Amino acid sequence: MENKKEDFDMLVTGKEILQDAHKNGYAVGAFNINNMEIIQAIIDAAEETRSPVILQASQGGIKYAGIDYISKLAKVAAEKATVPVAIHLDHGTDFDQVMLCIRNGFTSVMVDGSRFPLEENIELTKKVVEIAHAVGVSVEAELGKIGGTEDHIKVDEKDATMTDPDEALRFAKETDVDYLAIAVGTAHGVYKGKPELDFDRIKTIKKMTNMPLVLHGSSGVSYDDIEKAVSLGINKINIDTDVRMAFADAIKEFIKENPDEIDPRNILKPARANMSKIVAEKMRVFGSAGRA
Ligand code: G3H
Ligand code: ZN
Repeated sequence: MENKKEDFDMLVTGKEILQDAHKNGYAVGAFNINNMEIIQAIIDAAEETRSPVILQASQGGIKYAGIDYISKLAKVAAEKATVPVAIHLDHGTDFDQVMLCIRNGFTSVMVDGSRFPLEENIELTKKVVEIAHAVGVSVEAELGKIGGTEDHIKVDEKDATMTDPDEALRFAKETDVDYLAIAVGTAHGVYKGKPELDFDRIKTIKKMTNMPLVLHGSSGVSYDDIEKAVSLGINKINIDTDVRMAFADAIKEFIKENPDEIDPRNILKPARANMSKIVAEKMRVFGSAGRA
């Protein structure tokens, strides 16, 4: 009988990946997944650069593909990969969704209680941490409010609030969360102007919490700023918009040049290659290349 022991060997927890990044001062990309081609593009880039990687599905992504398809596609990717892969829920605002992902084999979940007052955010995060840790799943939470739009999450510029370092310390201690998403000036979606990152805030929160920190809304942030943020303590970098743009640009270009093409494989192939190129570029900038 075939020995199946090695199946999912490269499927690891988010904590395993991010503790190493925290200890050694680099960041790992967490890229949003919605279909097979996006997953393949990300894994190809991770293999090419020898980088650990986090495949993350948002509640919108899960709604689009279905929990069975998205979790099984991601698991196949991890099974075939030769680099460490974590499967993560991005912005889990709904407790039941978080539980669904844990039940479906995600190795990391984000519980996003950032819309609640501090006490309620702590309470919700604690509850998820207790359950997730009991079954070996890592947890990310968000403190402060990151601006912009991502799927169902919309935060007006005027409502975005930076993370308070004292609150971050209290939050980390009381919840026992594994990594913390902080609001330091980035926003979800396409930027209108140049994002202004509060580097001192990153430095202070890192010093006080001494834990892996997460940067959301990282598409469109200059590579100089990304490198500085990583040097000050960011260990997980969330990217969605830039991959969407790489996908859409390649498809538009291909259709323009080949208006009569009807084979989805021919249309999607250049999009997959273009996404992989941008993901690999980011892995090099984040410092995760060569860590696997
Ligand atoms: O949670 C996902 C990220 O924060 C995506 O942000 O669309 O600006 O890349 P982005
Ligand atoms: Zn985000």
